[in-house]
Amino acid sequence: MKLKHSVLLICLMIAASLSAQTQPKTLVVKAGTPIATIQSTMWGLFFEDINFAADGGIYAELVKNRSFEFNKPLMGWTKIGEEYAGQFQIINSQNENNPRFLRLESLQGKELGLTNEGFRGMGVVAGENYLFSILAKQEQGASALKIELLDSTGLVIGNAEVKNFSGDWKTYETKFACSVTHPKAQLRLTLSGKGVLDIDMVSLFPEHTWKGRKNGLRADLVQKLADLKPGFLRFPGGCIVEGHELETRYQWKKTVGNVDDRKLIVNRWNTEFSYRNAPDYFQSYGLGFFEYFQLAEDIGASPLPILNCGMACEFNSSELVPLDKLDPYIQDILDLIEFANGATTTKWGKLRADMGHPAPFNLKMVGVGNEQWGTQYIDRLKIFLKVLNEKHPEIAFVGGAGPFPDGKDFDYLWTQMRELKVPLVDEHYYRSPEWFLKNASRYDSYDRKGPKIFAGEYAAHDKEGEDAESRNTWKSALAEAALMTGLERNADVVYMASYAPLFGNVNAWQWRPDLIWFDNLKSAATPNYYVQKMFSTNAGTDVVTALVDGKPLTGQDSLFASACIDSKTSELIVKMVNVARHTASLTLSLEGKQPSVKEINLQVVANANPGAFNQVGKPEEVTPVERKQKISGKKIDISLDAYSLTVVRIPIKK
Ligand code: AHR
Repeated sequence: MKLKHSVLLICLMIAASLSAQTQPKTLVVKAGTPIATIQSTMWGLFFEDINFAADGGIYAELVKNRSFEFNKPLMGWTKIGEEYAGQFQIINSQNENNPRFLRLESLQGKELGLTNEGFRGMGVVAGENYLFSILAKQEQGASALKIELLDSTGLVIGNAEVKNFSGDWKTYETKFACSVTHPKAQLRLTLSGKGVLDIDMVSLFPEHTWKGRKNGLRADLVQKLADLKPGFLRFPGGCIVEGHELETRYQWKKTVGNVDDRKLIVNRWNTEFSYRNAPDYFQSYGLGFFEYFQLAEDIGASPLPILNCGMACEFNSSELVPLDKLDPYIQDILDLIEFANGATTTKWGKLRADMGHPAPFNLKMVGVGNEQWGTQYIDRLKIFLKVLNEKHPEIAFVGGAGPFPDGKDFDYLWTQMRELKVPLVDEHYYRSPEWFLKNASRYDSYDRKGPKIFAGEYAAHDKEGEDAESRNTWKSALAEAALMTGLERNADVVYMASYAPLFGNVNAWQWRPDLIWFDNLKSAATPNYYVQKMFSTNAGTDVVTALVDGKPLTGQDSLFASACIDSKTSELIVKMVNVARHTASLTLSLEGKQPSVKEINLQVVANANPGAFNQVGKPEEVTPVERKQKISGKKIDISLDAYSLTVVRIPIKK
């Protein structure tokens, strides 16, 4: 009897919960009443050279330590040749930015050479052409240098020769095809015949880079960025702006001009995390500020450089520039504005033109400092702002709210930002998926008259697994989607947002999760990437209200929603997130506008397993699909899959 009762009770509970699940809610959307403009910068990108994102990543150079400037000059290189067949000498030249070169001395005429291992190997593709270049000087009758690409068994899969060296430093170039696709090729250089040859800047690029540029970027990776149609590109970071100590901070002037003269420095992520040490992580600056501006322009993003404010990373050395010695730091920003926007008759504008871009880069925003906190930051920021506001009122300056999204330091910084009338404040949140869900209404109560928000670094941090990509779970992406409905809903105060970090090399990462994972040949968009893409390619122009029972959907019954119109295409766009493990129904009730079609498009990302993630070798576990749905009238029933993000675009009558 007791058992019967319990079974009945359980059945009733299940029935009650099912009826609660299927009870459709009505989302009333005031499609005819725009309430806030969505900035064209709203959804953007954060780029930092972390996880081998630049060298060994998007920068297509295949040779590691091409100029022998790593702390250990032959790191990445292996000598070949019979013992005592000759000498390998590291010599310092007059060029203070690129002092070292390698002298290959073959006095007996026996073969002498070396191989370069690339960045955890070199990814090469059958049928692709490779551009080899080298800076060389003949000291004594060196006849020729054999250039060979080898697969991991030592088989030659591409080769060329450089000869007729001059007695002066000169760059030599040659091109050759590769016959086999291989993820971990090596480059071998062999000096044949007796002679002494000095070499530097040994370089190998695929001919096919993004837009076919020399010193270019990996086309497949840039394409993934372009596909996001980003509103802005923040660069060069992140903590890399600050440096462990001031000496190793990012200095943009050292990253422009002739590539051979850009002074390499250690990458701050080299030894930051002992469990992910990368002693071979340096910044060649082949991807420097000119290339960042060009990348931003190529992908239609507004450039947002972040510069050092006279403070090294407060998690590391905390070195400070005294307040009366900030001039060079301020000058760096003034000169950067000239580099980006100045006439070609100015010093820095001319350099931009000489580098191939006479037209301005249309810089409108600059960040001062990254994750700084305390009075020492504010003391410095005040000095920067005074000069910059006087000299460049047309530029919006971005201040930081520190590394965490709440707490004493955060509150202090915000009070100061308001007082200083900083136009944009950079908030960072690396928190659990649960935090993201709770914070979908974070900005509902923000001061509408204060500084605008730049959610400059965020990512939901889920549990870690063994695979590099395992932290980019569908659960984390869905939580970000939920929060992003809150960002969009508050577009009157939230002007910009970017997931961070952007790239992770599966063989050489330091930090995860990341938006895009890659190896030497391939890449995988994460579920988080697809969420970003669903928002950024459906950005809209104006927010409209979308309410259930008079309130925004910020988690009631595990649902989240935001709505906007695209005034250019006359469409209503509704984004809906269901974080429950069951299907939900939502009736969209349009007010003020009529649909102009009988069928609409739905873009859906769903996966019944919140732990699912994409991998470089298995990139399609979580991907968006498109659906069509017939509609009639102003009430549209939408079925939301379990664990899903759904975006509908509804063409509306003008
Ligand atoms: O995105 C990785 C790091 O996280 C950034 O460099 C830093 O700003 C933040 O702490």
